[in-house]
Amino acid sequence: MTLRLSFEDLDRLDWECEKEDTRYLTHDFHPYSSKYIPQIPRNLIPAFSQEGDTILDCFVGSGTTLVETELLGRVGIGIDINPLACLISKVKSKPLDPHLLQRETSRLFEGIEAEISLIRGIPKITLYSEEVLRRLDASQDSQPNMERIKVWFQPNVTRELLTIKRHIDGIQSLDLRDFFLVGFSSILRSVSNAASGFGNLMVAKSPPPKNRVFEKFKSKVEDMIQRMSDFQKQASDARTEVAVGDSRRLALNDESIDMICTHPPYIAAVPYAEYQKLSLWWLGFEPHKLDSALIGGQRSRDDTVERFYRDMSLSFREMYRVLVSGRYCCVVIGNPLYRGRIWRLDEEMRKIGEDVGFRFLKQITRGKYKMTMGKMKAEHILIFRKS
Ligand SMILES: C[S@@+](CC[C@H](N)C(=O)[O-])C[C@H]1O[C@@H](n2cnc3c(N)ncnc32)[C@H](O)[C@@H]1O
Repeated sequence: MTLRLSFEDLDRLDWECEKEDTRYLTHDFHPYSSKYIPQIPRNLIPAFSQEGDTILDCFVGSGTTLVETELLGRVGIGIDINPLACLISKVKSKPLDPHLLQRETSRLFEGIEAEISLIRGIPKITLYSEEVLRRLDASQDSQPNMERIKVWFQPNVTRELLTIKRHIDGIQSLDLRDFFLVGFSSILRSVSNAASGFGNLMVAKSPPPKNRVFEKFKSKVEDMIQRMSDFQKQASDARTEVAVGDSRRLALNDESIDMICTHPPYIAAVPYAEYQKLSLWWLGFEPHKLDSALIGGQRSRDDTVERFYRDMSLSFREMYRVLVSGRYCCVVIGNPLYRGRIWRLDEEMRKIGEDVGFRFLKQITRGKYKMTMGKMKAEHILIFRKS
């Protein structure tokens, strides 16, 4: 494929995006640590692919790439080992009919509202009543472990969350149910006892009383509907597919991908399993399993760095295998501080890419504004071609 932009044109693009909105449309559905700004895939995808092409992000995270592939008329494939990431990605990138959404929302809110007004009338002493616990047992599969939940959520909050969750679980359409689950998950931290201001989750020493959980959920969903309606108007009819999977063993055919645009984890990466445990628990996923599966997870082991390079090498090998010859692979990376030193992942990833057969073409460095990882001084876009 001939390049649609010269390297000089690429350099002239605005990579800093100082004054740009980075939370437009569905990008703002759910918090996710170390997202990249949407302008990165928005600049890269038109430069290295054409309409109708299939674009892979095999570390898809919260689906930033997929929202952009959908807007740009490319077929997006997103893979992540974190099931919460896949849920968020799917919901953000799949256009839903706003009328359908609105109808289901009215039904959902009515059902929850009727029950919540009853719950709010019950004296506090009965909050963990036999009845609530029985209901919980009855739908054990999709409900969280109560012992853990009690520490993190006040009883009145737990009851409202259980009610909301049960009503969402009762929705027939998987796409609509997933939409509301993302809204539900996105408010969990704000209604929990977590101390604010920390990346890590810690229970606050004396958490302020939390209430009006349903109202928070409702206003989140209303905002999501507005954003989804705007997204749906601008979305193409390109397909997007999201699957839980491992970048080291991609379930994709050789040479089936026209471009890769991705953003791998860093050494001693964000401890997603820890940061997201409230959502993972409520949605029925197990954080411990996730931590050991994540590249860059289990940060305190002696072999963290070697494991990271080995895993990235396996991932690059897979990216090379699935990409069509002559096509481009863009990898965004930062240089983290770990064990008292800066790790030059830009240089290491370039070497790993070349070792598996890619031709390294160009590095773009950005870093004045809107950084993915606040503490890092810059982030680097590495451009490779499978020649
Ligand atoms: C830096 S984040 C990507 C963020 C994404 N660009 C966004 O905007 O949301 C890296 C992602 O790699 C995922 N990951 C870690 N190990 C993985 C593996 N073996 N296979 C697939 N994904 C993995 C993590 O779950 C995380 O979502």
